[in-house]
Amino acid sequence: MDTPRDPAAATPTPSVPEALHREVLVARDQARKNVFLLSHQGRQVVVKFPDQKGRGWLHAWLMRTTAAPMVRHPLPVAPFRLKPPAERTAFEAQRLHALAEAGAPVPRLVGLGDGYLIMEHAGQRLENWTRDLNLPPAEVDARVLAAARALAQLHCTGGWHGAPQLRNIMVRDDGSVAFIDFEEDLSILEPEARHAYDLLQFLSSLVVPRDDGPHRPELTERAARAYLALMGDGPLGPLAAYQRRAARIKRWLGPVRRRLGKDVQRTFGAIDVVEALLRDPAR
Ligand SMILES: Nc1ncnc2c1ncn2[C@@H]1O[C@H](COP(=O)(O)OP(=O)(O)O)[C@@H](O)[C@H]1O
Ligand SMILES: [Mg+2]
Repeated sequence: MDTPRDPAAATPTPSVPEALHREVLVARDQARKNVFLLSHQGRQVVVKFPDQKGRGWLHAWLMRTTAAPMVRHPLPVAPFRLKPPAERTAFEAQRLHALAEAGAPVPRLVGLGDGYLIMEHAGQRLENWTRDLNLPPAEVDARVLAAARALAQLHCTGGWHGAPQLRNIMVRDDGSVAFIDFEEDLSILEPEARHAYDLLQFLSSLVVPRDDGPHRPELTERAARAYLALMGDGPLGPLAAYQRRAARIKRWLGPVRRRLGKDVQRTFGAIDVVEALLRDPAR
């Protein structure tokens, strides 16, 4: 499928009307989180103030090291640091607005306020579904596969995400999927590397859950194939380059890797899935 350019960066974002701004200030005093729900004119909206913490250099370096084999040019660490809070909020609002205008699966931006953004409520985290072991597995699988196809749709409209883990994917009551949390700036990567990087984040979060739930290699491979069926093989090039580097590290670590932390398990679980895709892309 063709992948047009990222939607125009110049689309002006709507601002927050004065009455709604006053409601936000009141609600903020009561909310204990930087992201909270607000009932406005009979509907639920979500207000997001930026987290003030930012991202440490080591974390950014690890992210950059994941992306580095996917591109042919040297990759600095700086783009993987989060932007300063106010700039980050304006960036996220702008991306949400432009992506929604381009028809991508994201919540509608209600407005960009003074230091915060407001968007439409977009349902529950996909992670709530995959964590709930009382739900019928077929229903969970259907939502995961819908999310994989929605990621392809996001990419096909020219967008990227940067962190499409299960916690940043929302499922509405009608089963439709929306991506949230557009703080990452991957514009330094070529489009196919952005797609590959996103796919890898999605697969890593799915294959080894954040709780003690079961590992899901089969579902993860099905999700990857559902994505590739819509997207074509473009992301496989950067993924193959990543896999060549990662396979070497996997060999060095040998059996010890099973005893290392969740992040390592997640990375290697995703590499196993990528290896299966590369062995037999057409299955
Ligand atoms: N549009 C939305 N609809 C419903 N819930 C949302 C929405 N945006 C954020 N949330 C909830 O708030 C949480 C934090 O939002 P997120 O944008 O991911 O912030 P952070 O940058 O802190 O990770 C999400 O995991 C989700 O549970
Ligand atoms: Mg998030």
